[in-house]
Amino acid sequence: MQLVDIKDLRVSFRHHDGVVSAVRGVTLGLSKGESLGIVGESGSGKSVTFLALMRLLQAPAATIEADKLELDGSDLLNADAKALSDIRGSLVSMVFQDPMTSFDPLFTIGYQISETIQTHGNTGKKAALAQARELLAKVEIKHPDRVLKQYPHQLSGGMLQRAMIAMALSCEPRLLIADEPTTALDVTVQAQILQLITDLQQETGMSLIIITHDLGVIAETVDRVVVMYGGKVMEIGDTREIFEDPLNPYTKALIESIPGREAGKRKLIEIPGSSPNALSPPSGCPFHPRCKLADDKCASDAPNLSTFGKNRSAACWKVVQ
Ligand SMILES: Nc1ncnc2c1ncn2[C@@H]1O[C@H](COP(=O)(O)OP(=O)(O)OP(=O)(O)O)[C@@H](O)[C@H]1O
Ligand SMILES: [Mg+2]
Repeated sequence: MQLVDIKDLRVSFRHHDGVVSAVRGVTLGLSKGESLGIVGESGSGKSVTFLALMRLLQAPAATIEADKLELDGSDLLNADAKALSDIRGSLVSMVFQDPMTSFDPLFTIGYQISETIQTHGNTGKKAALAQARELLAKVEIKHPDRVLKQYPHQLSGGMLQRAMIAMALSCEPRLLIADEPTTALDVTVQAQILQLITDLQQETGMSLIIITHDLGVIAETVDRVVVMYGGKVMEIGDTREIFEDPLNPYTKALIESIPGREAGKRKLIEIPGSSPNALSPPSGCPFHPRCKLADDKCASDAPNLSTFGKNRSAACWKVVQ
């Protein structure tokens, strides 16, 4: 059985201008102990896919539909509030894109982490605080005693990310979802945080999902990659294969846009054109308006995600067996 099993997930938001189709039929799975990278440009539906999985999107603004939305065999689509809270407390934790989603500015880091430990583990106050200290040390925060007493705004970006990871680990999840865990950080700190997450994954045997818009970030971190665009999955494959032989032209464009280092400077090459408008997505393949290979069929018919060899799928009319 897969730990994560998503089939044909669709998520839309009611907006004053119309309906935003944020996720348009996403199918993906994750095995126990495996690590998965979710990549794609801004607005491709990466965060919404996993916020929907965690059932953190509220009706009536958000509508979630799926053929399957399961975590470790539990149906999340029809789960009640109690079941959802149990799953979030024991099975899965998420590190959010915005640190302030995880921390309340009014309480100390120590109070907040130990509160979660107390709620989920029936632990006393003193023992929970000791565990919180241990977790801060585990995420390599140098002065855990001092940080326990600090408020979120007193920490640097990198420290806050580490504290968020400590918070996420506090209920010993079997799956950690890290949404853009490194965007706001400088390159060296980014690399340290990613290394920390992978070390923790190997140590605990948990499964890992890293969401990022930068394919370069996860090149050496995850087992498999899911490439998303316009609310759809464009390609799935083993990380090495994705880099060595990308099937979808969008994946190729993403690889070419990885910031390189030229004469010591980071150089960002953007993919020409702009992402689709989620209020009125293009017909056919969502990437066709920007794709050099696109023809009439790409503009009119949406390609399904088809398998090519072992563990490999892509949604593109131009890929041949
Ligand atoms: N609460 C919301 N209400 C309305 N529209 C939303 C909401 N959340 C997301 N969207 C829209 O859904 C689409 C997908 O958003 P999502 O946040 O999943 O993108 P993303 O791939 O995570 O991008 P980024 O890299 O910028 O984080 C976007 O068009 C976004 O504007
Ligand atoms: Mg996002």
